[in-house]
Amino acid sequence: MKNNTVFECAIVNLSKVHNSAGNITVLENGSNIPFEVKRIYYLYDVPGGEGRGGHAHYNLEQYIVAASGAFDVVLDDGTNKRRVTLNRPYVALHIVPGLWRELENFSSGSISLVLASQKYTENDYIRNYQEFLNLKK
Ligand code: TYD
Repeated sequence: MKNNTVFECAIVNLSKVHNSAGNITVLENGSNIPFEVKRIYYLYDVPGGEGRGGHAHYNLEQYIVAASGAFDVVLDDGTNKRRVTLNRPYVALHIVPGLWRELENFSSGSISLVLASQKYTENDYIRNYQEFLNLKK
């Protein structure tokens, strides 16, 4: 299990192509994302006020963006907790491997866009909090 702390997760301001008819934000491998993107998924139709995502990853790195609406990401390294509110489509949270994370307080209609460094594999998940704490010791 990676020895990372919550303080290694950066809040990244992404550049915006500004236009009165709508803005564009671009994420491009080899340019403005610190890992190679192997998978993109998005979470939607989460009932307002709901939460999800209680787990950690051994190796997966992610960029999470509130593509629409707002939600909180609660990061936990076994010692420190850190709550980050995402509510701008041009701001990404870089989640490094080896952290417990929960997504909370979804606004209704919000969309959580996730860019991930690996394809989906259940072997990379730690879904039991006590097991996570033991691995961080
Ligand atoms: P999971 O990552 O456990 O979401 P959360 O922790 O937010 O509840 O994903 C829920 C289910 O969705 C998981 O059991 C399998 C499926 N899933 C995929 O098949 N591929 C994926 O890339 C993801 C993220 C989930």
